[in-house]
Amino acid sequence: MKGLAAANLKMNLTGQQTLSLVKNYIKLIKKTKQDVVVCPSYTALPLVAPVIKKSRLQLGAQDVFYEQKGAFTGEISTDMLKELGCRFSIVGHSERRNYLKETDELVNLKVKWALKAGITPILCIGEDAYSRDGGESFSFVEKQLKACIAGVEKKNIHKVALAYEPIWALSTTANRRDITSREITQMHNYIRKILKDVYDVMAAAQVRILYGGSVNEQNISEILKAENVDGVLVGAASLDARKFARIVAAFDARK
Ligand code: PGA
Repeated sequence: MKGLAAANLKMNLTGQQTLSLVKNYIKLIKKTKQDVVVCPSYTALPLVAPVIKKSRLQLGAQDVFYEQKGAFTGEISTDMLKELGCRFSIVGHSERRNYLKETDELVNLKVKWALKAGITPILCIGEDAYSRDGGESFSFVEKQLKACIAGVEKKNIHKVALAYEPIWALSTTANRRDITSREITQMHNYIRKILKDVYDVMAAAQVRILYGGSVNEQNISEILKAENVDGVLVGAASLDARKFARIVAAFDARK
């Protein structure tokens, strides 16, 4: 299975700033064998799209709506994204769940709609510190994952990329904590098991499970020691092209 390294630029850069970052990405990741996806702000998508055409980079959005068109002020459709060559979209990021009150039900609609439109959802799941400290991280993730993929057929589940992003380990979380590769292994194995229970062994094996939460050029080798890590979703470190390129290179170096 090809690795997937996705850069979540969040609401950090203007279009022009994104463009210069992306040009540096292109220079630094020429030889990768992984899927490398950059997810900039909507306004940067049309600027970035022509520039990455002949490169190894692919384009992703940070969110997508679940209807094709109509009276949905402020939202963006899969057709609009596809017109720009977007093949991926982050869905259900914890920041949207937190600040915009997105629920599992809403995220589920987005996942199903993206799949129908041929866009790969990078579905984010993960517990907060409260659940982790209460010993409920596994039951939390199980409930969240099952709700977000409800109704996704077995033949389509391999088109979903799952990103396990424990909120307590994100770089922007106050009093954040480091995650160990053992903790990543435990959760990623558990996620694989849930997929096996919901679908079957074959289907579960085809789903890419990404880790996200303060991934950087220094901890990537430790993270890659964990089992069932098929990719990463990178926030802060992706704002530095050299750091992001070193993360991608670590995947290429992995046996
Ligand atoms: P981080 O963000 O790498 O800065 O922790 C990851 C994310 O929120 O997707």
